[in-house]
Amino acid sequence: MIRYRSTALLLLALVLIPAVASAADEVSFARDIAPLLNARCASCHLTGQEDGNLALHPGAAWASLVNVPSVESSLMRVKPGSPKESYLLLKLEGNHLDAGGTGRQMPLDGTPLDATALERIRSWIAGGAAK
Ligand code: HEC
Repeated sequence: MIRYRSTALLLLALVLIPAVASAADEVSFARDIAPLLNARCASCHLTGQEDGNLALHPGAAWASLVNVPSVESSLMRVKPGSPKESYLLLKLEGNHLDAGGTGRQMPLDGTPLDATALERIRSWIAGGAAK
């Protein structure tokens, strides 16, 4: 009986652990991206009237980015499903000039975003850039 119960618990754990892990891996704009943009970008990109013409505080960031044409290139700022064609990501990686863009790598005058942050933004875009 004891042996049977522990086998059942083990099977239950094997079913549940991957489900928990994949939920934790999924990137959420509100939880993972908006706070980062607010901390690193919104001081310059506040009202949308500044250079770059985009507002990146939490109330405006999604609408300023997703399916919005870049003012510096012929790309969308964020093209859902396509990180390589999303000017936002190129601008953060410093690959924007190769894509016909202009200006400097973002954040301007700051330390580039680390690999973890870039990977989060990449997988958010690849996964459809949901709000
Ligand atoms: C110190 C001020 C400053 C900070 C901080 C800053 N930016 Fe910028 N951003 C600018 C300026 C100025 C431009 C226009 C000139 C240029 O591209 O170099 C710009 C342009 C852009 C553009 C191009 C917009 C378009 O439509 O083509 C994007 C995208 C962008 N910034 C994203 C960001 C992100 C994301 C962050 C934070 C990780 C950030 N910026 C932080 C000043 C800043």
